[in-house]
Amino acid sequence: MNEEQRKEMNAVLDSSVEKKSTKDFSKYFESTYTPPSLKDAKKRGKSDVNFEYDFDIPADMKTIGVGKKFLIRTYGCQMNEHDTEVMSGIFMAMGYEATVDTKEADVILLNTCAIRENAENKVFGEIGHLKPLKLENPDLIIGICGCMSQEESVVNRILEKHHFIDMIFGTHNIHRLPNILKDAMFNKEMVVEVWSKEGDIIENLPKVRKGSIKGWVNIMYGCDKFCTYCIVPYTRGKERSRRPEDIIEEVRHLARNGYKEITLLGQNVNAYGKDLKDMNYGLGDLMDEIRKIDIPRVRFTTSHPRDFDDRLVEVLGKGGNLVEHIHLPVQSGSSEVLKLMARKYSREHYLELVRKIKDAVPNAALTTDIIVGFPNETEEQFEETMSLVREVGYEGCYTFIYSPREGTPAAKMEDNVPMEVKKERLQRLNALVNEQAANAMKKYAGQIVEVLVEGESKNNPDVLAGYTRTSKLVNFKAPKSAIGKLVKVKITDVRTWSLNGEMIEETAEVTM
Ligand code: SAH
Ligand code: SF4
Ligand code: F3S
Repeated sequence: MNEEQRKEMNAVLDSSVEKKSTKDFSKYFESTYTPPSLKDAKKRGKSDVNFEYDFDIPADMKTIGVGKKFLIRTYGCQMNEHDTEVMSGIFMAMGYEATVDTKEADVILLNTCAIRENAENKVFGEIGHLKPLKLENPDLIIGICGCMSQEESVVNRILEKHHFIDMIFGTHNIHRLPNILKDAMFNKEMVVEVWSKEGDIIENLPKVRKGSIKGWVNIMYGCDKFCTYCIVPYTRGKERSRRPEDIIEEVRHLARNGYKEITLLGQNVNAYGKDLKDMNYGLGDLMDEIRKIDIPRVRFTTSHPRDFDDRLVEVLGKGGNLVEHIHLPVQSGSSEVLKLMARKYSREHYLELVRKIKDAVPNAALTTDIIVGFPNETEEQFEETMSLVREVGYEGCYTFIYSPREGTPAAKMEDNVPMEVKKERLQRLNALVNEQAANAMKKYAGQIVEVLVEGESKNNPDVLAGYTRTSKLVNFKAPKSAIGKLVKVKITDVRTWSLNGEMIEETAEVTM
């Protein structure tokens, strides 16, 4: 479609949705519209977490999707990716089939992320692209879910400007998908269901996992840390842990089904168990049990340094299936900035924790997240971040320019750092991080590593690709039958972002 045609189509579409826009929305939504509220989201109740074990699809929705297709676009973190797996499971339980083609989809969902402004801009761009599809297929249902749905400003913008959207639902309302979809199909008006405060854990939701080699396992939901820059505690609700027995059963189930790697998921996994009032049980205890399950690799993300306790360090030291890659977001190397971020640890505390981890896990590969240009960050404070990066010797680092998020305390801070300065600092940091990442690769030259083979390489189908325990990408020639297996590979060539190698005999000794 050219630009002219697109304009024409949008004009027709605008006139066709005008009928909707002239309606009195507030009245119409009385029954279905629950506006999200960042203020309410902040109120952490002392109420107990309810565990629901009896999820079921309503009888009249069980076959609604037969002969129809759904498509979910996912933005954001592993949490969202995993929510997409759950929603895919719910769609399939209603008879829908998955598709990647927007043209043949009957339902399209955007599972959104609110972490930075550019994440939101991407979604609004995509919303614009979906508009013409509605004209081509008036029965198409378009929905917005995920973290952006939890923000008042986003919901208001969609209500005002994007009337062709059929449904908006929040991160706490995923299990309500069949009911929300039903309302959207039969009401033909925008359905908005976003709960701001939620403490429930719904256990037996169906899931369709993306692959059969690696699986995600939620161990907890929400975040109570309230770092001053971060929107997540508002969009994901209060911290609540799943029962250990439910997690262990899920991991065992994955192991029985041939999965080779699991990643335990939570926004702050180190707070795991704090809310389990009937037991004194933490992440270290959980990992110690999962360590004994017959699954070759166990990872966890994301760690918060403040809650990373000695028990966990001790358990990680036992190795085995607990891999020696630890992602430990630091955010800044300056204790003053960390204080303003409300991270609740200092540079010294962080470095002490790193020392403990390195003592317990000698080959540990450490990676991190860093925010540059937090309000009023000085050149000296930024240099402290640079020196910390050198001191820890990170092998990888996700770096971000600070992005103000509406409703968070940092967004109200005055900021005297111009954007050019922030960009320049980001470049300097990235140069250092990239240099360290490349150096970390060099030590693999000539080594024999264990690789979990995930599939064909992106660039060359004759080459297979997989990851080491320390999350390094390895490309090597081997028969396709190696896919899904753990194999030993001798590294022959070190690149900046990957390693090349040759598969060797299974019996060879693994040195890394
Ligand atoms: N729960 C995790 C990370 C969640 S978000 C943790 O606490 O580490 C992933 C990363 O995005 C964060 O570690 C942080 O580096 C970055 N981030 C979060 N909010 C941001 C903001 N407002 N601007 C820029 N980066 C941000
Ligand atoms: Fe955000 Fe901090 Fe919670 Fe991580 S720990 S999700 S950065 S508030
Ligand atoms: Fe984004 Fe929500 Fe994850 S804001 S990073 S999708 S928790």
